[in-house]
Amino acid sequence: MSIRILATGSYVPERILSNADLEKMVDTSDEWIRTRTGIQSRHLGAPEQASSDLATIAAERALQKAGLTGKDLDAILVATITPDHAFPSTACLVQKNIGAAGAFCFDMAAACSGLIYALQTGYSLIKATPSIYRRVLVIGVEMPTRMVDWTNRNTCVLFGDGAGAVILGLDEADNGPDFLVASDLHTDGTLCDLLKLPAGGSRAPATAETVANKMHYIHMEGREVFKNAVAGMVNSSRAALERAGVKVEDVRWVIPHQANIRIIDAVSQRLGATAEQVYTNIDRMGNTSAASIGICLDELAEAGKLSSGDRVLITAFGGGLTWGAMLICW
Ligand code: ACO
Repeated sequence: MSIRILATGSYVPERILSNADLEKMVDTSDEWIRTRTGIQSRHLGAPEQASSDLATIAAERALQKAGLTGKDLDAILVATITPDHAFPSTACLVQKNIGAAGAFCFDMAAACSGLIYALQTGYSLIKATPSIYRRVLVIGVEMPTRMVDWTNRNTCVLFGDGAGAVILGLDEADNGPDFLVASDLHTDGTLCDLLKLPAGGSRAPATAETVANKMHYIHMEGREVFKNAVAGMVNSSRAALERAGVKVEDVRWVIPHQANIRIIDAVSQRLGATAEQVYTNIDRMGNTSAASIGICLDELAEAGKLSSGDRVLITAFGGGLTWGAMLICW
């Protein structure tokens, strides 16, 4: 029996914020945002929505496509840095919403690399203990628009909200390869200050002072992050391809984390991937952090652009610093 991706699902909130809308909020321009980031619009959660709500809809869509219900799941892993609460975990809330009483659930925090880290963890659970864990729901969900300073043009133009879900499971009818062909994951905690949410945790609990000092907003050193993102995604992608003995021309799709079109272009160029191989939706979504790769995968699957046996290279980078790549067999 092989471990396969049984289905994907995704959800983005209805409200769309365009660059023209942002022009009215901060000193920016559609031209600057488009040329420096590739973003034209992004989705914003409704005031009553939280990450678990987005994750639940993505999960329900994936379950429906797989012909499963919450009762069929053995574990739920939610990758997010914008949980509803510090605790209970967002995964616990999703479990309640989809009636997955038999699943054990936890969140993982790896910023924009979250989905890749969670796919590796979900795969390892099934691989190590297939008699107990047969089906694992992995979700990347993020509402970064809840932690940006809407008066700071350096960050508020970059992010969007969304969720992407992937159901991993043992396929009894399939003796082919596992979905995970090769991976390469990394962390460099010495660069933790390049991207962070300074307050709200045990280091600096919320006080009137932390609010006044805008310490509950994303802090990002854009240029340094940019350089590290390109190097990390290129090196990890090369390592995963080498481990698999696969050349980039034999990959059907390359899906880089959707942070900035210039980062995506630089990574694609260095890997030697053609424009036809590289999937992007950053123009419509902005940076949805841990959700971005899951949303891309689901869009491709929904559009019928993924066939059984297609090789897909996914690569991500985020705060931590965290980064990695994974070669998938669809
Ligand atoms: N509109 C107009 N001007 C702007 C804007 C804006 N929205 N934002 C910045 N500028 C200005 C700056 O103030 C600066 O002006 P100055 O020269 O007068 O000082 C100028 O544009 C250039 O700023 P840079 O920061 O050098 O612009 P850069 O080309 O580096 O682009 C960006 C900035 C888009 C943030 C880029 O560095 C980037 O994408 N970095 C990576 C971000 C990323 O990948 N994050 C992912 C992780 S997120 C996570 O893990 C949660």
